[in-house]
Amino acid sequence: KKILVIHGPNLNLLGEREPGVYGTDTFESINNEIIEHAMKYEFHCDVYQSNHEGEIIDKLHLARKNYDGVILNAGAYTHYSYAIRDAIAAIKIPVVEVHLSNIHSRDEFRHTSVIAPVCVGQISGFGKYSYYMAVDALYYKWKNESG
Ligand code: DQA
Repeated sequence: KKILVIHGPNLNLLGEREPGVYGTDTFESINNEIIEHAMKYEFHCDVYQSNHEGEIIDKLHLARKNYDGVILNAGAYTHYSYAIRDAIAAIKIPVVEVHLSNIHSRDEFRHTSVIAPVCVGQISGFGKYSYYMAVDALYYKWKNESG
């Protein structure tokens, strides 16, 4: 199976950005660890990051042809991008919503995810492990489906 991890705005600064909230592991090291974790299931995993809403939408459209599933941390777009929500709804492959922080325990505006209803599920609050758990979630989902 092929998985695409999409990181939205400001996540390229992981390690530097608000380390008290998001941790000190760098963007690069987290990505390497996600890829390694995915290899345990023999999943091929690519990683993409963009600070631009339209580029994230384009990538979701492309992913529908080239990948079996997507792990998406949409950053702040999570809370208000109906365009990203519609892109997820438009594609048939499963999209797992991921957040490093627990969005439900932070600012009020972060409590709402407009993408949650069209994702297969949401993993929030486990730091970089949220991404690993999303890989696990796809593994178990596909394992169940194949009986
Ligand atoms: C985030 C949470 C969002 O509220 C925030 O805007 C981010 C990161 C997280 O991973 O915890 O950019 O998605």
